[in-house]
Amino acid sequence: MLDVLNLPVAEEATVEATLSAETTSEEVIARIYALKEKLRDKIVILGHHYQRDDIIQFADRTGDSFELSRFASQLKDREFIVFCGVHFMAETADVLSASNQVVILPDLKAGCSMSDMARSEQVFDAWEEIGEYVDTSTVCPITYMNSSAAIKAFCGEHGGAVSTSSNNRAIFQWAFDQGFEKIFFFPDQHLGRNTAYYQLGIPLEQIKLYDQTQPLGGLSAEDLREAKVLLWRGHCSVHQHFQASHPNIMRSLYPGLQVIVHPECNFDVVRQADKVGSTSYIVKSIEQAPAGSKWAIGTEHHLVNRLKKEHPDQFITTLAPYACECATMFRISPEALLDILENLDSDIVKNQVVVSNSDKKWARVALDRMLEITSNSAVSSWRT
Ligand code: 13P
Repeated sequence: MLDVLNLPVAEEATVEATLSAETTSEEVIARIYALKEKLRDKIVILGHHYQRDDIIQFADRTGDSFELSRFASQLKDREFIVFCGVHFMAETADVLSASNQVVILPDLKAGCSMSDMARSEQVFDAWEEIGEYVDTSTVCPITYMNSSAAIKAFCGEHGGAVSTSSNNRAIFQWAFDQGFEKIFFFPDQHLGRNTAYYQLGIPLEQIKLYDQTQPLGGLSAEDLREAKVLLWRGHCSVHQHFQASHPNIMRSLYPGLQVIVHPECNFDVVRQADKVGSTSYIVKSIEQAPAGSKWAIGTEHHLVNRLKKEHPDQFITTLAPYACECATMFRISPEALLDILENLDSDIVKNQVVVSNSDKKWARVALDRMLEITSNSAVSSWRT
């Protein structure tokens, strides 16, 4: 067995060394298949649903953020977890995997703009600031999976948890059941508002937006005291392309069409949707739908296109009249994956994602709380 902790780490990209201008896409694909077979006892390849088809074909496991994190926590027999997704997902896998496992992100520039909207120092400052007006021991900090390990650690250390789009309601409910009076939710305001209002029935007056660019989040001391849920001002740029006018336009163009959206869409889009849920919930809804069903899907377009190809007996289109693509997910290319595998085949670890031990400890607490709270849940409907 390789001593993974003592492997040399590549400093420079080596794609150029192994691929020439003449290398065809077919060759790249064939080389990945061959290396995957050769390294099969050492590696596992995880693929988030937003990955391109030319990556998904190599994934040993696909899933939404929750399923992939649960899988990473159960996986013990592979030394290398090659995470085809974005940075926060690889960090989560590093926190949840065993200490002798190595997590690799094929392109380290595959980040998440929403996650970047909450920097840890901003969150620490905001916590202190609101602490001048409310007793923070009554506030439960909850962070969406799409956040840095440092913010997950902050939530773990302050009695809170991580959530994903498939379990946000359960995590919010858990916080209130623990006796917390308020939730401070980072970084996706839309998922937070949709959960609080549509799933838990909290009135909008008690759901306040904390704008981190403003003193005291742009709120008054009274706002802070009245709030049951404080929402960080963050959003997913991809899901903000879906607009309130789109559901009706699509329904009038295609009578009988159902609208299914991800809960990162804004409040007005979610209000009009027939179904709302995580990426896996969307996949399963289409899989279970009868032939002839018509859908407009409000999520990343690689997933929409794949569903369209896989279900030719249904009518499937994107909810917006243009492609809504996640540019950072798209960075994970077959060439980048091949580079990782060729390096591993030479006993070189490239693009390892490592969370510091201090963040790991408390991020693990926050993630374990999530896994515990949702231990028996399969992919479920987001909407009640
Ligand atoms: P899921 O947990 O639904 O896969 O969502 C992840 C994500 O980043 C959506 O934009």
